[in-house]
Amino acid sequence: MPGPFTLPSFAKINWFLRVLGKRDDGFHELCTLFQTVSLHDTIHFAESDVLRLTCNDPFVPTDESNLIIRAAKALSESKGRSLRAKIHLEKRIPSPGGLGGGSSNAATALIGLARLWELDASLNDLLPIAKGIGSDVPFFLYGGTALGAGRGEVIEPIEDIHEQFLLLVTPDEAVATCEVFDRIAAASLTKTDPESILRVCRLTAESGDLRNKTLANDLEVVVFPAYPEIDRVEKTLLDLGAAQVLMSGSGASVFAMFDKEETRQTAIKALDLESTWRKFAVATISRNEYREALNIAF
Ligand code: C5P
Repeated sequence: MPGPFTLPSFAKINWFLRVLGKRDDGFHELCTLFQTVSLHDTIHFAESDVLRLTCNDPFVPTDESNLIIRAAKALSESKGRSLRAKIHLEKRIPSPGGLGGGSSNAATALIGLARLWELDASLNDLLPIAKGIGSDVPFFLYGGTALGAGRGEVIEPIEDIHEQFLLLVTPDEAVATCEVFDRIAAASLTKTDPESILRVCRLTAESGDLRNKTLANDLEVVVFPAYPEIDRVEKTLLDLGAAQVLMSGSGASVFAMFDKEETRQTAIKALDLESTWRKFAVATISRNEYREALNIAF
């Protein structure tokens, strides 16, 4: 077995998120553009006689409800063995927050534990396990920029989008993803025919130029009335000179793109007044940077 090692577990944003309709299995058909960003948790892996998770944040559960434990058990069961590890999570990504923190932790655990347990696992071995844990987990086996279809789990990596001057702002609101999707009534679902939305999504994604495009997150129409503070975050960031702002996933985090570092720094300073908003200056993480940082071999 390899000695103890540490991996970053990156956050994501959704450059856009369109809801195409409700499926028979209760999930919603999506078209989204995922992007890994530099904000990350850190996960330490070491061998042990027991499967044990610890976390620096006392509010994060370390039992079966933590996706890292679910990932460890699912990977261990897929090999028909009872494998153990000592895992320590240093949490920085707000959770819940629409930044995929838990999903990223699960995928990073699959990658880390496959190495710790010397399982020689391929992408095709890990993908079904990732899908079983959550809709956003498969994306984190790829990283970079990728289209997500189906319930978000059908991943198509595309050319990296690079943005250096991003700002993530997370107000102190715990948005429950399942409630947001429950509230998306037929009336608020995208009216245009799904095929044409998919075409526009692909064109937007492949243009590489998001600054001058209309970016939409269809979940905002149900989230903003219930959580007006998130709407206020967007408006504030626009007032502070952001080129684009959008809610990420089901919120509460909002990302803003700035044209230059100076404008971003002025915005961060102005946001000092909002003491309950967490702010993270980040850049995009390309697929190669992601693969190198996680030492992905598949
Ligand atoms: O897959 P995940 O566990 O992340 O989904 C959390 C909840 O969000 C699901 O139980 C479902 O209510 C909702 N959801 C959905 N459509 C999706 C993704 C999630 O309705 N595409």
